Amino acid sequence: MKILVIGSGAREHALAWKLSRERNVTAVFCSPGNPGIASVARCLDADVGNPAELLKVARSQAIDLTVVGPELPLSRGIVDVFTADGRAIVGPSQAAAALESSKAFAKDFMARHKVPTASYQVCESATSALAWLEGDPFGYPLVLKADGLAAGKGVVIVPDRQSAIATVESMMIERRFGSAGDRIVFEQFLVGQEASYFVLTDGTSFIPLGSAQDHKRIFDDDQGPNTGGMGAFAPSPLVTVDVERRVIDEIVRPVLDGMQSEGHPYRGFLYVGLMLTADGPKVVEFNVRLGDPETQVVLPMLDEELSWLLGEAAMGALPSRRARILPDAHVGVVLAAGGYPEAVETGRPITGVDAASAVPGALVFHAGTSKRDGQLVTSGGRVLTVVGRGSTFSGAIDTAYQAAAHIRFEGMQFRRDIGRKAVIGPRV
Ligand code: AMP
Ligand code: GLY
Repeated sequence: MKILVIGSGAREHALAWKLSRERNVTAVFCSPGNPGIASVARCLDADVGNPAELLKVARSQAIDLTVVGPELPLSRGIVDVFTADGRAIVGPSQAAAALESSKAFAKDFMARHKVPTASYQVCESATSALAWLEGDPFGYPLVLKADGLAAGKGVVIVPDRQSAIATVESMMIERRFGSAGDRIVFEQFLVGQEASYFVLTDGTSFIPLGSAQDHKRIFDDDQGPNTGGMGAFAPSPLVTVDVERRVIDEIVRPVLDGMQSEGHPYRGFLYVGLMLTADGPKVVEFNVRLGDPETQVVLPMLDEELSWLLGEAAMGALPSRRARILPDAHVGVVLAAGGYPEAVETGRPITGVDAASAVPGALVFHAGTSKRDGQLVTSGGRVLTVVGRGSTFSGAIDTAYQAAAHIRFEGMQFRRDIGRKAVIGPRV
């Protein structure tokens, strides 16, 4: 089987790495890919936001199966375009991808199907949003979300009405997130611990892939601005057998049944962002794809052929069963460029990747890297994810940081506390 992975981050490197080791797979391609991915797959340049261009790539290489990493091509209908051409692809249709591309759709959908989530209000104009704020119906802190895709930056938590008004104005009048903020969602602030849960589904059956915890803030102890994710560990000790049963019964099944009954069955990876509250697990967000950096710690735990599962999902023939998952702990530390998450420095030479990869139990996945005159250099905010595996979280943490210690580039920043929550428990 010839497989095409769409995307260019560390998540896609982890996908390509896993697929390249499987018996079923004769060749892995990646569009557009990166220098790390090029060591396990053939990279083909293309615009990740252009489904028609990606279809040309798949046709030219006679690809048997395509798997999509990021949300952008999904929200632009890549699955519909490939399906119309008779090409197997794993991911949701454009209509089903609205679970991520429109927060208002996701909230209304959850309300229709009684999926537990925070109370909310959708507003279509600044006037109605400002009017709704009078009387402070949800109290403070209050969560404001731009409806559309905003590169993970469209969520603002405000402490009082004055900041809520300022945020509404910046989203809806100054249009800080462009058209993504033309509708906004107010949400009640949920108190609890966050974890995420992943399944692969063909629309009816699903296979749980496990749980993880992300570290979204740039600095240790969850301080500083939000990022795309500075590190992750898997599995999440918060997602106990009991919690998992509730997530499946109260969230995953109703979502799949609901999408089916509304005429746009959900196929692909579903990422359930959870807040584990005193009243049980509630949905904070859906992503219609795997997470980054969660994938880098979740996929190495999968002890069976991903290509087979993907093929069955694409054909609508996925069995309902548990996947074989390794018991080891995995911890992934993101090495980010200077300036991240604001304007980042690029073009800085990177050294030590081979030495890091040679540490037993370590894996290095590339994201914002490129080659300049044969030298690996930085080319994005999140540059590499270094993953450590261990029979305990402490062991996995040691391995990840030992490997990361080999890597150098000017301005490199990373958190020193990735995985600590799994060892000492969450701060409450
Ligand atoms: P989202 O992009 O929807 O996942 O939101 C980004 C982050 O904002 C989440 O990871 C949470 O930390 C926080 N957040 C979102 N919604 C809520 C909520 N209703 N209550 C508390 N925190 C939230
Ligand atoms: N790490 C969060 C995400 O992939 O959206």
